[in-house]
Amino acid sequence: MEVMSEWKNKTALITGASYGIGEAFAKRLAADGAQLILTARSQERLEALAAQLRSQYGASVHIVCADLANATGAREIFEEVERANLSVDLLINNAGFGALGEFAELSLPRQLEMIQVNITALVELTHLCLQPMQARRGGAILNVASTAAFQAVPYFAVYAATKAFVLSFSEALMEEGRSSGIRVLALCPGSTATNFQEVAGSQHINAPRFTQTSEQVVEAGLAALAQGRSFVISGLTNKLQTQLERFVPRAVVTKMAGKIFKPPSPERAR
Ligand SMILES: NC(=O)c1ccc[n+]([C@@H]2O[C@H](COP(=O)([O-])OP(=O)(O)OC[C@H]3O[C@@H](n4cnc5c(N)ncnc54)[C@H](OP(=O)(O)O)[C@@H]3O)[C@@H](O)[C@H]2O)c1
Repeated sequence: MEVMSEWKNKTALITGASYGIGEAFAKRLAADGAQLILTARSQERLEALAAQLRSQYGASVHIVCADLANATGAREIFEEVERANLSVDLLINNAGFGALGEFAELSLPRQLEMIQVNITALVELTHLCLQPMQARRGGAILNVASTAAFQAVPYFAVYAATKAFVLSFSEALMEEGRSSGIRVLALCPGSTATNFQEVAGSQHINAPRFTQTSEQVVEAGLAALAQGRSFVISGLTNKLQTQLERFVPRAVVTKMAGKIFKPPSPERAR
């Protein structure tokens, strides 16, 4: 007998829903009977996805186009949610990107933009959605972190640090939320087949054997959220890898990560 999803007839707001893991969350939650608010910059992609989800699942889908690299992006999304008279039961902070290269060589504006999208917008949307959730005494927040959250990563320095923030922040909020019944999860995927590597310029690091699909990552995230966990590492290999790191001195782990992530040729500033 099929178990009814806890998200049936609930409203989920998904950032970065136009591609990859966010798109897979949208498809999975539409199949589960959730009402969706999808946001990203790519309007045509969102419209095509919304049309597909409406016809395939009869889903109710609301689209909000916004750039989370703008300081006003998160608030614009939340104001649109309020204007549409929707309340968010499940917030999925998924939008994010990386940039591979030596810190000093990479464009500073691009790295500050990364902090804005991966951290500041995530914190702002979390704050905006959490207060109404507390008032209703229910809801959940799923923040997409990364296995990069567990150690420093040379040549991915800012990206890994943003994900360490997301992991720490989410675990803390999960504990704070225990009394109000609001769950917060950090979902930590390893290498996943999406546009991420192309955007980050890290295609050479892809190890196809260990690469997961977006659907596998989404499955791990929703299952862990249902179990009330504060974080989950998606995939057995990724789990083992992050466990092993606990038995090796941090400096050695950082050196090993640097060997893996070192760009093949001197990376030009992007
Ligand atoms: N793929 C991996 O190997 C991997 C591993 C660990 C963690 N992650 C994390 O997983 C999350 C999803 O990434 P993905 O792998 O699905 O990559 P992706 O295919 O590149 O998708 C990234 C999503 O983020 C959105 N986005 C990027 N910049 C944005 C901005 N300025 N404003 C609004 N939306 C923005 C993109 O939408 P638009 O371009 O339409 O705006 C897109 O929908 C990220 O947080 C990433 O760090 C990925």
